[in-house]
Parts: sequence; structure tokens; C-alpha cells
Amino acid sequence: MASLLNVVLFVLVCQIPIAISKSVEKKCIKNGPCSCQMSDGSGVIDLKKITNAGDPMQVDARFKHVKARDANSYSYNPCYPFEEVGCHGVAICQRVPDRRAALYFTLGTHDKSDFYHNGTHVILKYEGLTGTSQVVRTSHITLVCNEENDDTLFIPYGEDPWVKPLHYYFNLLSPCSCPGKCEEPKPE
Ligand SMILES: *[C@@H]1O[C@H](CO)[C@@H](O)[C@H](O)[C@H]1NC(C)=O
Repeated sequence: MASLLNVVLFVLVCQIPIAISKSVEKKCIKNGPCSCQMSDGSGVIDLKKITNAGDPMQVDARFKHVKARDANSYSYNPCYPFEEVGCHGVAICQRVPDRRAALYFTLGTHDKSDFYHNGTHVILKYEGLTGTSQVVRTSHITLVCNEENDDTLFIPYGEDPWVKPLHYYFNLLSPCSCPGKCEEPKPE
């Protein structure tokens, strides 16, 4: 009987580290449309330095018509809404070439941004509606920290309709994707 109790106690004690590691799971808590604070104290991720700003209706995407393997091209402005033929006030726009005229889809807007952590990277997610359609499209921007140099690269992979329709995947390789590297100076 005593040995059974020991086994039970042993099993219970073994659960404690699992419970602790779950509670300190990494998170990046949103503090603006394109910035978040790491829960582990490593700093703030802020994409303001790699975005285009300007008057509404006149802002151009920082990353414009970047072609993906799926033959479509994607435009992205991390922090402020931009305009492009069929996309209005958006964060991400997809351009699908068509024989007659290209089609445009809103893949996300800044008011529908959020952050999550997938164990390795922080991911900035946006949701969007095209026109009056009720179909929600979701973009996942994996923030890949560039510690090697100052280069910023937006790499679209697009959608894999057989795996997860209406979800679009991108990498943003940049020093600004690293916590603490691109923080805006605090206002005095
Ligand atoms: C999640 O993490 C892996 C690396 O383990 C990465 O390759 C992938 O692109 C990440 N992003 C998403 C959206 O799953």
C-alpha cells in the first residue's frame, strides 16, 4: 500500500514541471496594430520602422507586388492602411492575375491584427473581408529575426487551399522582427 502511495506521489510531483512550463509559455502581448511586448522580458517588437506612413488614401504599401510561388502577388504595409486598385484601407492585398483584369482580395486590415507564438516565432495575424463579402481571409506573418544584417525581406508563400483554405502565409525577415531591436524611443 505504501509503495502504491509512493507511486501516486511520484506521478503527481512529475506533473509540476509540466504545469510550470505551460504557465511561462512565450507570448507577445499586443500594444498597437503592429507592436507587442514579449512576456519573457526580451523587449518590444515594433514594425513602425519598416512601414510606409502618410495621408490616408495616399499611402503606398512598403512591400509592393511581391510575387509568390502561387503566381499571385502580395502587397503589405505592417502598420498603416494603404490603397491599391481593388484594396482599400488594408494591411495586406492579394493580386490574382486574370486573363481580362486582375482580381484583388483583402487579406487583412490593421483593426483586426493580433499576435501569437508558435513555439519558435512570434506571428502577426490579420483578418480581412473583401468588399461586401462575408468570407474572412486570414494572413499569418511569421516574424523572423534577422540578426545578421540590416536587411528586411517580405517573403510571401500564399495559400495552400488543400491544407487550410483562406489562410495565407508570409515571412518577414528583419531586424525589426527581433524583440528589443527596433523599439520606438519613448515619448518624454
Ligand atoms: C511556426 O514555426 C515554424 C518553425 O518551427 C515556422 O517554420 C513556421 O513558419 C511558423 N509559422 C506559422 C504560421 O506556423
